[in-house]
Amino acid sequence: MKHQLVLVIDFGGQYTQLIVRRVREQGVYSEMVPWTKACEAVTSRKPDAVILSGGPRSVLEDGAPDLDYSVIEGIPTLGICYGHQLMAHRLGGKVQKSTEREYGRRTLTRADTHALVGRLTSDQVWMSHGDQVLSAPPGFTVTAETDTCPIAAFENVATRQYGVQFHPEVSHTPDGRSILQRFLFEVAKLRADWTPDNFIEESVQRIRNEVGDKQVLCAVSGGVDSSVVAALMSKAIEDQVVCVFVDHGLLRKNEAEQVVETFTKVFHPRLIAINARDQFYAKLKGVTDPETKRKTIGEQFVVCFEQHADEIKGCDFLAQGTLYPDVIESGSPTAAKIKTHHNVGGLPDWMKLKVIEPLRWLFKDEVREVGRKLGLPEDVVDREPFPGPGLAVRILGEITPERVRITQDADWIFRTELRKHGLHLHIWQSYAALLDVRSVGVMGDERTYEQPIVLRAVQSEDAMTAQAVNLPFEFLEHVCNRIVNEVDGVNRVLYDLTSKPPATIEWE
Ligand code: XMP
Repeated sequence: MKHQLVLVIDFGGQYTQLIVRRVREQGVYSEMVPWTKACEAVTSRKPDAVILSGGPRSVLEDGAPDLDYSVIEGIPTLGICYGHQLMAHRLGGKVQKSTEREYGRRTLTRADTHALVGRLTSDQVWMSHGDQVLSAPPGFTVTAETDTCPIAAFENVATRQYGVQFHPEVSHTPDGRSILQRFLFEVAKLRADWTPDNFIEESVQRIRNEVGDKQVLCAVSGGVDSSVVAALMSKAIEDQVVCVFVDHGLLRKNEAEQVVETFTKVFHPRLIAINARDQFYAKLKGVTDPETKRKTIGEQFVVCFEQHADEIKGCDFLAQGTLYPDVIESGSPTAAKIKTHHNVGGLPDWMKLKVIEPLRWLFKDEVREVGRKLGLPEDVVDREPFPGPGLAVRILGEITPERVRITQDADWIFRTELRKHGLHLHIWQSYAALLDVRSVGVMGDERTYEQPIVLRAVQSEDAMTAQAVNLPFEFLEHVCNRIVNEVDGVNRVLYDLTSKPPATIEWE
């Protein structure tokens, strides 16, 4: 079955990914495409509806993100913020340049009840824009205004083109969802055909077609993504899949043993577990630069996979758990390269195995849903995300077995205490990181000169943004006391309060 598709054209807006998520939450499949590739994508993918995102520029500037409007003619379109202005600009309306930004909550003071933006249960909307639309294009009706924005929404029912100056996708527009729902189901007349069951059925078919009678090596780490990939591959091609778990010596305390145990119990019996700790430590000796660490680890993973693939007759493929946010981040021309996630774009060019990434169109919450449908246990599905390079991106400076031991022990105490106090439930990720500085302390009557541990616990929806968790001071104090008393080599414990942005979730 072919899905209906809503293509979100990205003009560099900070909420574009959120639009995609909101559409998918309605059971309609959506993808985003940068404006530079929009014409190509519309022509080849033939979307059933198009959404034009917001963006930081002015449509009146030279070289501003643009769109050849003829390619989307006849397709139901919703323009949001910059998309609303571009629609006005391209279709014969007027946009006025502004040097000031309007930012914050506003009230729709007049909304036509028959309009797309009519019948909202709340008239609060979230604005974040500079320029204003001064006149709507010919054939369009202005359907809403605020006291600062005379054309907050417009529409042309005959051509199924709609524009809103505000952001229906953010939670600060309380009933924004109903605008998207009406656009998707009443205007574009879409079906809600994007369900985990459909995804599983289609993926199984796609995997079978792609793999044929070959064997697939499935890289597993014990995390939710690779576990879901393994379950999906097993469902699709049963005993043509061999799972490989590489213990690079950078996992949490006792995690390697746990992964092997759960995996053998719950999943596929064909699991090869490789202890490659010494190999990874040797390659990482003296390496302190975060990107070099990632690259080294990525390469060593592939060395391990290829060695084992050579031993399996007819093994041509490597399956791994890349997700949609990784794909978006590495494909966007506007996004700066912050980190190379080792499973996207970080694979060495000498690799012979062909990569299969069945989850590359899913967000994390969708992966969890698919995992549940595939019957994976809750403790696997709800596991915290753990980065592929593991503790390497949490140990600043050189990685040595001793520094790994310190980090593992501190991490173990922190996470055990979080569970004991029931504080782990609403945490996206929590961990201990080891810094590469030393500070003076006093223990008993002795001077110490040791390393500090940083504790980090964040809440997040999709790892694109995150906030530090407000942990009780007494709890932090208790964990701090345990760590300095029980973990040799640590004399100071800090708690990281920084959100993402400006920080990232991991320290490297
Ligand atoms: P940052 O630190 O960029 O992390 O805010 C966002 C999410 O990605 C995970 N992460 C990684 N995962 N390889 C991975 O597989 C990596 O190199 C990597 N770096 C960060 C991080 O744990 C968080 O969930």
